[in-house]
Amino acid sequence: AQRPYVIDEMISAKAIAARIEDLCREIHDEFDGTDKLIVVGLLRGSFVFIADLVRELDLPIEVDFLEASSYGDAMESSREVRILKDLRGAIEGRDVLVVEDIVDTGHTLHHVTNLLRSREPKRLKSIALLDKPTRREVDLKADWTGFEIPDEFVVGYGIDFAQRNRNLPFIGKVRFT
Ligand code: PRP
Ligand code: MN
Ligand code: MG
Repeated sequence: AQRPYVIDEMISAKAIAARIEDLCREIHDEFDGTDKLIVVGLLRGSFVFIADLVRELDLPIEVDFLEASSYGDAMESSREVRILKDLRGAIEGRDVLVVEDIVDTGHTLHHVTNLLRSREPKRLKSIALLDKPTRREVDLKADWTGFEIPDEFVVGYGIDFAQRNRNLPFIGKVRFT
């Protein structure tokens, strides 16, 4: 059984929405004129972020998903990224934006961007809502980051703790009681 914990709000739904508006302006400038941008969400954590992001993005897009997992139900990264579900479509010669909820050790985004780059997209960019730079184990940074956060265990807005709390509308931090 899980140790008892409470969740303290860290980033409000309103602050997230405001930040997404800014990010979308920058993404729009980068991809302006694209014939079709393929927005790739990394399941499962990014499902809320990608839903809000694409609705704010005024560009011709296609949405695809790739499922990667390294934490399972643990609090610590396994450092072994498993691809559980691949993209449905080809990305060769296309503009691609990878959407991630959080970059922690960096292993997941590193593994996925290497995999997608090997398929020779025209342009490959990445965005993460959250970044925990102090935890990094591989040298990488998303092209856009929503918020840099300290080393706290966060949940909500798609992010789970042992598969729970993904449906919280805000980002919270776990505090054991
Ligand atoms: C979490 C999170 C990121 C990744 C970040 O995914 O959603 O994808 O870990 O950690 P890293 O930078 O240390 O690799 P998880 O493996 O828990 O799968 P999930 O998205 O299905 O929850
Ligand atoms: Mn994930
Ligand atoms: Mg997880």
